[in-house]
Amino acid sequence: METRIDQIVGGIYRISTWQEPYGITFNQFLIDDERPTLIHTGMHGLYDGIRAAITEVLDPARLANLILLHWEGDENGGMTRFMHDAPQSDLVGSLLSIQLNAYGFGLNNRVRGFRDGETFDLVRHKLRFLETPHVHHWDSMMVMEETTRSLFPSDLFIQPADQPPIVTENLSMTMLGLYRAAGIFAHELPVRQVISRIEKLDLAWIHPMHGGSFERAALPNYAKALTKNEFAFRGLLLGREIAAVAPM
Ligand SMILES: [Fe+2]
Ligand SMILES: [Fe+2]
Repeated sequence: METRIDQIVGGIYRISTWQEPYGITFNQFLIDDERPTLIHTGMHGLYDGIRAAITEVLDPARLANLILLHWEGDENGGMTRFMHDAPQSDLVGSLLSIQLNAYGFGLNNRVRGFRDGETFDLVRHKLRFLETPHVHHWDSMMVMEETTRSLFPSDLFIQPADQPPIVTENLSMTMLGLYRAAGIFAHELPVRQVISRIEKLDLAWIHPMHGGSFERAALPNYAKALTKNEFAFRGLLLGREIAAVAPM
């Protein structure tokens, strides 16, 4: 299991670990700034590789923010290890995620919840938070980095297989196949509402949590695929059929 780190644009690094059993990469994004920020911690068990990758750029003890885009193992499973490693760091999530999950799991200190539209300065970079409920959890949010016009959409725009740091190929059909098999979205509607919002953001880069980052020109491929096709849960969970759920 190898974890690699590559700079994508303007101090934003993609850290990526290929996970054969899932058929996808698990990515984190490091923003190198006065207030260094990690978006997604990765699973608890990936910590050593991710930490080593960060060390190629900066001292992980300097991390100021650990951002989770929804409460799930691959999003924030390593949070306690990184928080321990970086004693000044805060865990950052949507207001809902912090209220429901952080407090509920006993994390009451060094946690910050953000609402839609709020911004957060890292000095050379500036983050803007978008609450995106039900894409795919109800506490989901996305983050936009304004200086590079980058969006971190977590599990939206996933591409299967071991993708390079930057993808140019149109992988939208394999994305749909993965969504149908994995069952991560309950319904198409909240996804499509967020897509029409994303299309108005004048983005230069999109950095999915699984797959490769892509530039503005590729966004319409993925947006169109999700607008024109069904991809929500129809009885399959990670490829396993739930017998009690009748296919529609
Ligand atoms: Fe997720
Ligand atoms: Fe994920």
